[in-house]
Amino acid sequence: MDKILVLDFGGQYDQLIARRIRNLQVYAEIKPYSAITPQEIKAANYRGIVFTGGPNSVYAENAPHCGGEILSLGIPILGICYGHQLLAYLAGGKIAPAETGSEYGKTAVSVRKHVLFEGVPHESVCWMSHTDAVQTLPPGFSVLAKTAHCPVAAIGDDSRKLYGVQFHPEVTHTAYGTKMLQNFVVSVCGCKADWQMDDVLTATVERYREQLKDKKVLLALSGGVDSAVTALLLHRAVGDNLTCVFVDHGLLRKGEGDFVEATFGGKFGVNLIRVNAEERFLKALAGVTEPEQKRHIIGEQFIRVFEEEAKQLGQIDVLAQGTIYPDVIESGKGDSAKIKSHHNVGGLPDNMTFTELAEPLRDLFKDEVRALGEKLGLPRQLVRRQPFPGPGLGVRVIGEITKEKLDILREADAIFRETVAESEDDLLPNQYFAVLTDTRSVGVMGDARTYGYTVALRAVTTDDFMTATWTRLPYDLLETASSRITNEVPGISRVVYDITSKPPATVEWE
Ligand code: XMP
Repeated sequence: MDKILVLDFGGQYDQLIARRIRNLQVYAEIKPYSAITPQEIKAANYRGIVFTGGPNSVYAENAPHCGGEILSLGIPILGICYGHQLLAYLAGGKIAPAETGSEYGKTAVSVRKHVLFEGVPHESVCWMSHTDAVQTLPPGFSVLAKTAHCPVAAIGDDSRKLYGVQFHPEVTHTAYGTKMLQNFVVSVCGCKADWQMDDVLTATVERYREQLKDKKVLLALSGGVDSAVTALLLHRAVGDNLTCVFVDHGLLRKGEGDFVEATFGGKFGVNLIRVNAEERFLKALAGVTEPEQKRHIIGEQFIRVFEEEAKQLGQIDVLAQGTIYPDVIESGKGDSAKIKSHHNVGGLPDNMTFTELAEPLRDLFKDEVRALGEKLGLPRQLVRRQPFPGPGLGVRVIGEITKEKLDILREADAIFRETVAESEDDLLPNQYFAVLTDTRSVGVMGDARTYGYTVALRAVTTDDFMTATWTRLPYDLLETASSRITNEVPGISRVVYDITSKPPATVEWE
């Protein structure tokens, strides 16, 4: 299989570059620039390398650099933004702050006739985001594109197949960006576009069938996409040697526990143990109001329950996990500031001993995991499921968590989700749910005074959940949700809509 190395210099679009290349059916993997040597790159047989963008100036102290040796490996390179400047610098060119200042946003670019720009019109729109620019070309290079403010918008040395673009071909604002990436990957690097989900599925099942032969495998199933696909994949590989433990902590949405059980235990015939641990979780959470403490208790209890179940199963050789590629990349990058402790159901308990770990999705992006799920016959409801946090409704009941509050929230949340899902609007929010605030307010129903909870509705539009904008849901939809909730759910006297984006808010309330 032909593959491309995306060498990560800290840019914000690094994952996007790899995803775009994979969408062209060529396998691409991301490595931090400091994690791989030129010898290792050579030995791994990459057909091409992409240097990513990054926030630095190449001359800045601590700017991420790789040695110039990489240019002599005989492997084609495409530098993007910072990567373009670094390539020029390593090849002997000069970089300087652009004379006209920073260039940012959609920009008209004109390209020369070149293999990199095959099928790209002479004039088109690209996405620029830079302060520095290549000032003096390195020896052997020529200019391949320019914009009004950037005379060196793309460069190339055909004899060594080294190329750089100042703009970002990976973002959709660059009209012909995908075509340019395809030209590099297929025409310049000579990759065969033959990386397909069907092959990934067959190869993964075969690999694990062999590797896990006669071994007992355990997986914590949450009903989320990642663990669901992991379960079905491994079930195909090892059948009844896989046991899935589904910890129902009582913090799930309406009907969710039964659906997971019916799907995996029922429809797919997976060996499934559903542990009804609601009482235990509620007891541990009684009286607790502080968000981080709640998260901690839920995470801790989850691990204990999982551990106890595992113990009863006797000797287990392999722990399976639904780790996906962005988790792998993120964990290699070190910690950014901790806003809240994310707890993913399925985390590895520290004091459990397994001889092996199986992570069949560790090379796949989320959209690829969904595609695999579809191939495995996972119901649409699960494949297209919006994200749901590990601590579940525990972070959506503000203040103390009680069974009564959870039941009220479950009903309100189900009505809101149903209303949104049924709407004619094409653009579904990426995540939408209800939150039970701990504020009560006065209302009137019939002739009687009510004093019930306030429910907040939340819907966000986002690409990556790192930032998000509140979704402009139609007023009529909000009206339907509000009147259905107040009419159908006893205990709620007021419905409000959250109009805060992230930042400054987070998606979840706790
Ligand atoms: P925040 O609230 O941090 O949420 O803006 C961003 C995305 O992450 C989800 N989320 C979690 N997912 N475990 C998870 O698996 C968690 O503990 C957790 N907390 C938040 C949240 O639903 C949103 O999609």
